[in-house]
Amino acid sequence: MASSDKPGLVVWLDGKFVGYDEARVPILTHSLQYGSGIFEGLRAYKNHDGVAIFRLKDHVKRFFRTAKIYNMELGLTPAQLEKAIVETVKRNGPTSCYIRPFAFYNSDQIGLSTHGNKVSVFIGAVPMGAYFGKGKDSGIRCKTSSWRRINSEILPVEAKASGNYINSLIAHNEAAVSGFDEAIMLSADGKIAEGSTENIFLYMDDYLLTPDYSADILIGITRDTVIKIARKEGIEVLEEELHKEELYIADEVFFTGTAAEITPVVNVDGIKVGDGKPGKITKALAKKYTEVVSGKDKRFREWLTYVR
Ligand SMILES: Cc1ncc(COP(=O)(O)O)c(C=O)c1O
Repeated sequence: MASSDKPGLVVWLDGKFVGYDEARVPILTHSLQYGSGIFEGLRAYKNHDGVAIFRLKDHVKRFFRTAKIYNMELGLTPAQLEKAIVETVKRNGPTSCYIRPFAFYNSDQIGLSTHGNKVSVFIGAVPMGAYFGKGKDSGIRCKTSSWRRINSEILPVEAKASGNYINSLIAHNEAAVSGFDEAIMLSADGKIAEGSTENIFLYMDDYLLTPDYSADILIGITRDTVIKIARKEGIEVLEEELHKEELYIADEVFFTGTAAEITPVVNVDGIKVGDGKPGKITKALAKKYTEVVSGKDKRFREWLTYVR
């Protein structure tokens, strides 16, 4: 068995801390075969006062909502999960990291039914730099996908369930093999929805625009953060239906996400966004976002949970 590339990493599994290599599941694990896991993605940032997890309660809330949608009994309370996440970060540094809580059917029976299957809960915290590397500053090139975003008549789009990400993956891969950094997915009825794992914003005619719930987006926590920051900064934000061509004529476009943070989109389908460089508003919001997650902006301190 090849040894892991995560030496020293300590993970939480069903209430116990174990080494990364010791956290094992059978190959027939239900959630591996059928995509029946649910998960979250959070970041913790190191600052002058210590290490703080960003919007912990909101991520845990979404995790429990996803579990509720799938009628998955997690066997612990939100407060217990929050505590376990804090402890996992603490045991692995603490330092800046990306945190992955994951609940899954830990059963190797071959049938689809989850009835009576054991649910396991896992938490891992790994180092992670900028999701799009240098693109975080210089901007990325995107392709509108030929694949449409799943909609809520087919699957619960507000659930952060593993199976949903097959849709994200096929769109991302199509963009990547065509030489783009990321995909922009349209909703089933052709409106702008989101990136494969990011929400999207357009800045046009002095308005910050983002698709609303009707585009079947995942309601991102970073999206909410950006809306709240922008409004505090006096920028008018509209959540509405957006047409694909608005990507080509917007002054600025950017992605938001826990992993992606704020990433400028400088080209869509080979057409420059604005002058083809990260825009003024995008850069200002990205700077503000860094201040917020690192506790420098005191107005949003309640979003930080320090790891003590
Ligand atoms: C499909 C999808 N949309 C949007 C987002 C952004 O969500 P958040 O800002 O909560 O990380 C993510 C990331 O989790 C995602 O997977």
